[in-house]
Amino acid sequence: MQTLRLASDETGIAQAAKLLRQGQTVAIPTETVYGLAGDARNGAAVAAIYAAKGRPSFNPLIVHVADLTAARRIAHLPPQAMELAQAFWPGALTLVLPLRADSGIASLVTAGLDTVAIRVPAAQAAQALLRAFDGPLAAPSANASGRISPTTADHVLDPDGGLDTRIAAVLDAGPCPVGVESTIIGWHQDRATLLRPGGIPAEAIEAALGHRLDHHQADPDTPTAPGQLSSHYAPNAALRLNAETALPGETHITFGRPGPFSLSPTGDLTEAAAHLFDLLRRADREGRAIAVAPIPDHGLGTAINDRLRRAAAPRQASSSSK
Ligand code: TXA
Ligand code: MG
Repeated sequence: MQTLRLASDETGIAQAAKLLRQGQTVAIPTETVYGLAGDARNGAAVAAIYAAKGRPSFNPLIVHVADLTAARRIAHLPPQAMELAQAFWPGALTLVLPLRADSGIASLVTAGLDTVAIRVPAAQAAQALLRAFDGPLAAPSANASGRISPTTADHVLDPDGGLDTRIAAVLDAGPCPVGVESTIIGWHQDRATLLRPGGIPAEAIEAALGHRLDHHQADPDTPTAPGQLSSHYAPNAALRLNAETALPGETHITFGRPGPFSLSPTGDLTEAAAHLFDLLRRADREGRAIAVAPIPDHGLGTAINDRLRRAAAPRQASSSSK
């Protein structure tokens, strides 16, 4: 299949919506990362997402909708979820919610769970596409399973491990401004729980709720949220963390000072998140081991450190073959 690159103008968005209506898969820009979208009501389209990514089928997908009204047609939002939706949607927050019996969502999206992950993206192109398509879009990050999430259309089409020829199109709206995936919140015994740190800092969510979040303990052997598989975000090179200086033969990703691989010369965590995945890819292409400077572990730094730990974790067999 030839993968089209569509501009995020009216024509490109209409074309993307048309392909999605036909049950095809299209990579779409969001403010966090590019997602690989398919019609969430069409089981065959959802199966095509899993196939293009080579993703294990037990891993459920995030459903993207245009607004809260569309979310409420798919899931029940208890009062705390409503508060968070009103505070952070549209934006980089995903809520894991009880699925409605009449949701119309293909069971492959939730991998048979009775909960569904929903998000209202803020990116203008994603909003325009959701309105043109007029339905829910299932979209995991648009990378092959086990690889780093894409933050540009070039990453999506990367000849080394990208999705070129495996998907119908990519809608190109330039680099993603947030650069790390959404924060995922679920509820365990009615307690709001952080399932994945991401683009909205946990501190901001705690401030909106007025209390602390429970933190999901990632157990590498039992991935309850399968994105928690430890080697989920993997470059090819070995990665060494908390490295103030590089050893001979290492590429050094720095923070708080300038350099060819600086996450943020001024030590700005928002800028660092936006640059993270592109820098990891660029450093990987140097073909040497990578050393990464320490990153403060608060605000967006929590999500950055989470992704770095996964990138540094021992590889699972499935990620090296993709
Ligand atoms: O920013 C993002 O969240 C991006 C953009 C494209 O929206 N999407 C993304 O999707 O990161 P993905 O598939 O790479 O990660 C979705 C995560 C996975 O860890 C999955 O296991 C979890 O959400 N998830 C989905 N449905 C779930 C559910 N019902 N219960 C628990 N975890 C769920
Ligand atoms: Mg992903």
